[in-house]
Amino acid sequence: MQRAITLLRMQFPYRVASDVPLFLAPMAGVSESPFRLLCRRFGADVVVSEFISAVGVSRGIAALFADMRFDEAERPIGIQLYGADATVMARAAEMVTAVCKPDFIDINFGCPVKKVVKNNGGSGCLKDLGQVQAIIRAVRGATHLPVTVKMRSGWDDAQRDPLTIALRCREAGAQAITLHARTRTQMFSGTADWDEIAALVERLDVPVVGNGDIRTPEDVVAMRRHTGCAGIMIARGSFGNPWIFAQARDLLAGRPRRRDPDPAERFAVALEHARLALRLQGDSRRTALEFRKHFGWYTKGVPGAAGLRERLFQIESMQQAEAIFLEAAA
Ligand SMILES: Cc1cc2nc3c(=O)[nH]c(=O)nc-3n(C[C@H](O)[C@H](O)[C@H](O)COP(=O)(O)O)c2cc1C
Repeated sequence: MQRAITLLRMQFPYRVASDVPLFLAPMAGVSESPFRLLCRRFGADVVVSEFISAVGVSRGIAALFADMRFDEAERPIGIQLYGADATVMARAAEMVTAVCKPDFIDINFGCPVKKVVKNNGGSGCLKDLGQVQAIIRAVRGATHLPVTVKMRSGWDDAQRDPLTIALRCREAGAQAITLHARTRTQMFSGTADWDEIAALVERLDVPVVGNGDIRTPEDVVAMRRHTGCAGIMIARGSFGNPWIFAQARDLLAGRPRRRDPDPAERFAVALEHARLALRLQGDSRRTALEFRKHFGWYTKGVPGAAGLRERLFQIESMQQAEAIFLEAAA
């Protein structure tokens, strides 16, 4: 009976299709609707939007609402909010709930970017756990949707204490917690400390999602073994590589993993990605410029791709990109 109750508590607060769900991480400039859709198709179970300013949302900035649009096929999807003011965060959560209707709201306590941290948003909040709790409580009170948290291990080495932070988040009402097991001052250097994820799994009564340094499908299995985490989140390992989700799913299911995509498959998916962006984001120069990085990632390591990359890095419209990939995929 006790075990049944514990297992029930460990369930994600939104519907997921797998025992061990795989998450596409929130990534500014990367985890936008077209890429989220692709990753869902390749087996990501849950996706999260890039971080969205609560201040901007509460002021009704139209561009932000455009950024938060998603396709029904992306569900389950979380919209991630950041901000340091509990009242503003609550107002934004209320608006996102009413207008966007995602499956959950994720609060960002991990972002290390200076302009965010300067105003005590993102990982800046980690210096004041009272504030962290006030934000979570306010957001929970403002939405009927599940509220989850994504955090780092602490502000710096001296204040590194992910367990205390996570327990305080839980106490304030966080219904699932993702840990990127690095401090803010580490940014992306060093390695993520998976032992810290294991410690959270041991002590928390809500699902813990492990994040940090998943580069290969094999890493997914290794993190699950090492930590027992309920779900696994992949960020940089998915760059130009939505296949990582399908391959990881194979390994988690005990099957040999499917082979790596050949160049023709890579080009075909890059083309599909470009077409999705064209459909969902329009053919602005901005979309094309922002898209160049994806092309670099899709063509990385492909023999003879240098010429292709050179052409792709000069595109000014998504139609040009489509034409280049169409030619390459032929
Ligand atoms: C380009 C980029 C943008 C990111 N943007 C966000 C963000 O908007 N919100 C967030 O919580 N984390 C963000 N992150 C952090 C990732 O979600 C993740 O925690 C981190 O990259 C560690 O995972 P990895 O080792 O699999 O890359 C970003 C990371 C990258 C590389």
